[in-house]
Amino acid sequence: MNVGILGIGNLGSSIINGLIRSDINKIKLFAYDSNSDAISKVKADRVNIVKSEKELYQTSDVLFIAVKPDQVKSVLQKMLTGFTGRTVISAAAGISLDFIKNNLTTPNTKIYRIMTNLGCEFNSAPVLVAGYEPLDQMTQQVLEGLGKIYQVNEQLLNALTTVVGSGPALITYFLDSLVQYCKIIGLEGDSAREIVDMVALSTLDYLKYKRVTYEDLIEKITTPGGITLKVLHNMDKMSVKGRIVDSIIKGAHN
Ligand SMILES: NC(=O)c1ccc[n+]([C@@H]2O[C@H](COP(=O)([O-])OP(=O)(O)OC[C@H]3O[C@@H](n4cnc5c(N)ncnc54)[C@H](OP(=O)(O)O)[C@@H]3O)[C@@H](O)[C@H]2O)c1
Repeated sequence: MNVGILGIGNLGSSIINGLIRSDINKIKLFAYDSNSDAISKVKADRVNIVKSEKELYQTSDVLFIAVKPDQVKSVLQKMLTGFTGRTVISAAAGISLDFIKNNLTTPNTKIYRIMTNLGCEFNSAPVLVAGYEPLDQMTQQVLEGLGKIYQVNEQLLNALTTVVGSGPALITYFLDSLVQYCKIIGLEGDSAREIVDMVALSTLDYLKYKRVTYEDLIEKITTPGGITLKVLHNMDKMSVKGRIVDSIIKGAHN
């Protein structure tokens, strides 16, 4: 099976590297980007870089669209009639299935939307999928190479974009505030970043391997009158959690 990736940007390169890493049997990777600099982001010996959109359409059984949302329309309109009977997977945020269907010049093309994040490079991202029909076996096999699949309706996929797609940026924003604190108290060099990274990774390991709830973990760390409780009380007084949720709602729905 030939899998094409149109757009070797931030997400497109992660999709390519994720599929290479997952080593799925019997798939060949093809990719195209109009920006020749993008090609350096992927392992050239594991993906066939083609010279034009046309060549990519001709080669791909399954085609990922990983260009910016405002670039999707022109990409769809350029698709050849020969693409009929194949599968398009759009990763573009906010571009609906109907928009894709209405702008495709090729009939009988299976259309899916996905929402995932840069973590698909390590096969560990959630991969939300919406389509007019349930996933076929071939597309499922490809998407499993990026992480864990959740088939959802399109409305939910849109609403979860801020958690799944933007999530790594939101989490990093919080980690950066811990780094800022470390710097304020005088930690120099790369140590602040290194320590905060280790705290984040060891926390995820603990949650994963000990299978505790978020509440249980917080309870294990706090002692009555202790420093953790004081910090969390301060955050609650400032409604930090509520403000974060409000910001996500405002960003997602306005
Ligand atoms: N980045 C994320 O974390 C993330 C997460 C979830 C979903 N997404 C979705 O993924 C899509 C891509 O985002 P991104 O951050 O990866 O964008 P990006 O880094 O800008 O990558 C898009 C790439 O496609 C190239 N391109 C534009 N038009 C093309 C065409 N007609 N044919 C071939 N290549 C073309 C762009 O070149 P130029 O730079 O020259 O335009 C660029 O190299 C977006 O729709 C976004 O909503 C991204």
